[in-house]
Amino acid sequence: MSFAVSTSSFAGAKVALRKQQNVQKKQSTMVRAAAVSGEVPRRAVFGVLDMAKRNVMNLLLVGALGLPGTTLLGGFAYYFVPPSAGGGGAGQAAKDAAGNDIKQATWLKNHLPGDYTLSQGLKGDATYLMVDAGGKIRDFGINAVCTHLGCVVPWNKAENKFKCPCHGSQYNADGMVIRGPAPLSLALAHLTIDASDTVIFSPWTETDFRTGLAPWWK
Ligand code: FES
Repeated sequence: MSFAVSTSSFAGAKVALRKQQNVQKKQSTMVRAAAVSGEVPRRAVFGVLDMAKRNVMNLLLVGALGLPGTTLLGGFAYYFVPPSAGGGGAGQAAKDAAGNDIKQATWLKNHLPGDYTLSQGLKGDATYLMVDAGGKIRDFGINAVCTHLGCVVPWNKAENKFKCPCHGSQYNADGMVIRGPAPLSLALAHLTIDASDTVIFSPWTETDFRTGLAPWWK
């Protein structure tokens, strides 16, 4: 009797083992078939593609932030530092990234025609100093603070316009808004050169030459 029981449980175990092997075989066949049809690998492939995409994006990001990014971020970081002196008085010396007064001759030695570079302007606002095609500093500065939510707007030389990285607003080479959501053009400041060759910013209170309207920033 006990022999009969153990024989039957042995037979049962064998059947269970065979069933399990069949299931495994079936699963393996399904995976192979799916691999051929591309179903299972699709997930894997997408996973790989996603990873590859992520890697490319990472590389692009690193590349994009490489040289220009270092310059821009370095420049932008500087403008989070409170202004060293002065306020929004009648006139104020433009300052470079090191906090030194900007001298016209020195600036033009290092900045070619078409150059747009941030300086510290009135009230410490990041303000573009621009060199025109003839190699002269333009007689106004453009405040780099986006009129949407206040990001510092980088100059895009290749596209000859300002493009805000925060929400996509764009401004032409004179700082006039050409694409929202920014509601207004970038603020202006007058730029003159004093007797000691220092670049001076002063408030722009007259009509905005780009729009024909009173300046909103007054
Ligand atoms: S802050 Fe520039 S578009 Fe929003």
